[in-house]
Amino acid sequence: MYKLQAILTVLGLALANIAFAGHLDGTTVDQRTAPTGKVLQQGDAPIVEKVVSTIESQPETQPQASAEVEVVEQPPAKEAVETAAATEASSFRGGEEIYSAKCAMCHDAGIAGSPKVGDAAAWTARIAKGEAVLIENATKGFQGDAGMMPPKGGCFDCADEEISAAVEFMVAKSQ
Ligand code: HEC
Repeated sequence: MYKLQAILTVLGLALANIAFAGHLDGTTVDQRTAPTGKVLQQGDAPIVEKVVSTIESQPETQPQASAEVEVVEQPPAKEAVETAAATEASSFRGGEEIYSAKCAMCHDAGIAGSPKVGDAAAWTARIAKGEAVLIENATKGFQGDAGMMPPKGGCFDCADEEISAAVEFMVAKSQ
């Protein structure tokens, strides 16, 4: 039984080798030489020749592949720019979003002496200081008569722009 298995295994390997060798010797070489000649008219570096022939191993797909590359070349650049711009724009959360997530826990109810958002009387004197001062105090932190406003409300992953937007949102709601 072992002998038979061994013979079958050897036979199988031999057949696989023949099939593989036949594949290499036959169509592939013809296919590779044809596109290579065409491509070489434009470039003469041997490395480029090898890379191109490896990528475009089938002559039938070569024209399509080239056309695709030419057409696709420009849009990805634009898309990349648009994507980058969109990412940049959306990476800053809005004032309302920041307020709800990071500030409302104190300012919704006036916890710990914080001026309650929507309570115009609590905000009049503060708004009179100017929005720039409020933004600076909210960003750096502020110890006032009423209590302690922690830097960025304790939101250390908030960008300065996000704190500004949150302050603007609070001021707009409290006039
Ligand atoms: C832990 C509670 C707490 C959190 C959270 C908090 N605040 Fe405050 N905030 C206060 C207190 C208390 C004051 C009042 C300090 C005073 O005037 O004595 C205050 C005051 C302020 C003022 C008025 C500053 C001034 O100059 O009068 C602004 C603006 C403000 N907070 C913005 C924010 C923003 C924006 C957030 C969220 C990113 C936030 N706060 C989160 C407690 C908090």
